[in-house]
Amino acid sequence: MTKILRVAVIGAGRMGADHIQRLNTRIHGAEVAAVVDVDLARAQAAIEGIPGAVALADADEALNSGDVNAVLIATPGFLHEDILLKAIAKDIPILCEKPLTPDAESAWKIVEAEQKLGRKRIQVGFMRRFDAEYAALGKIIRDSELGELLMLHHQHRNPTTPAGFTNEMLINDSVVHEFDAIRYFTGEEITSVQVRLGKATRNAPAGQHDPQHVLIETESGVLADVEIYVNAKFGYEVATQASFEDGIVSIGGDKGAYTRSNGRWGGAVTPGFEERFGAAYDVEIQSWVDAALRDEIGGPTAWDGYATAACCEAGVEAQKNGEKVAVKLNAKPALYS
Ligand SMILES: NC(=O)c1ccc[n+]([C@@H]2O[C@H](COP(=O)([O-])OP(=O)(O)OC[C@H]3O[C@@H](n4cnc5c(N)ncnc54)[C@H](O)[C@@H]3O)[C@@H](O)[C@H]2O)c1
Repeated sequence: MTKILRVAVIGAGRMGADHIQRLNTRIHGAEVAAVVDVDLARAQAAIEGIPGAVALADADEALNSGDVNAVLIATPGFLHEDILLKAIAKDIPILCEKPLTPDAESAWKIVEAEQKLGRKRIQVGFMRRFDAEYAALGKIIRDSELGELLMLHHQHRNPTTPAGFTNEMLINDSVVHEFDAIRYFTGEEITSVQVRLGKATRNAPAGQHDPQHVLIETESGVLADVEIYVNAKFGYEVATQASFEDGIVSIGGDKGAYTRSNGRWGGAVTPGFEERFGAAYDVEIQSWVDAALRDEIGGPTAWDGYATAACCEAGVEAQKNGEKVAVKLNAKPALYS
């Protein structure tokens, strides 16, 4: 059995660099063996101060190196499929940042490749499942503490979006997290998605309709809605209110010091996802490493990646036609039951 993970991190951008620091400073049982980025200078900067790590410009070189026995994929989503297939062929533990791949067809190819391998090797980076408040709400639902869960109301608000953030990306890059959260909370598949485009903010770039209201239904009829509002200016917020038969649970409000001064009261607004989910990323990656050392995975599966890709496809279609669009899923393979 592997004693320590020697991880190749592919992609040293915003998320990759964050995971490299995490692996190097806070995670037990794993070390950064290699950092790969087409921008070699970025890979070199990312390994600074990490003993025994090499910077490379080619993922194949890292995967074929005898010094690497696990891979963390943090390149843009459209590049995941190729690296995933190569890493599956190596039969090594894989942490793949969300999305697994950008569409259901390519995600299904990954599910099929893993099935052929015969064991789960891929954990998908849906980190919200590792957030303490998400876990607490998940437990209330699973233990039926407040009776049956009836509805979920989600708010997903960003201060602004990077250049090139398209209308489809509101679904594929943002609401994808709620698709996973709703599947995680309910333990059910999502059956349909509808998107309503109402009054839009003047602060959205051309071609982007913001905010949008996404209406979702699960197998047992739990209704969920998401306000996705990516140019909300005030700060970052990912919050959920869950309605049960016997109570209401809210998670995700701003936390921290409550200050009264100069005739005003208040606290600081969370600026971004790194601050909101920093601790969850740590728990996520530690869970991946601990499980990988037992030849298991410690979080969302390739099936979860495939199912959320199918929800995104339905969501993008619904954005365009305004209709309630059914989510189409292949039968779930026994490997994921
Ligand atoms: N879980 C989350 O909350 C979360 C948050 C942000 C991003 N992400 C995901 O993380 C991934 C990376 O996003 P990001 O924001 O860090 O992007 P980014 O653009 O900041 O970084 C991507 C990096 O990949 C490198 N790259 C491009 N092609 C490459 C190749 N062929 N081989 C090696 N490196 C290559 C780029 O040079 C860049 O450094 C995406 O899948 C994104 O959806 C997840």
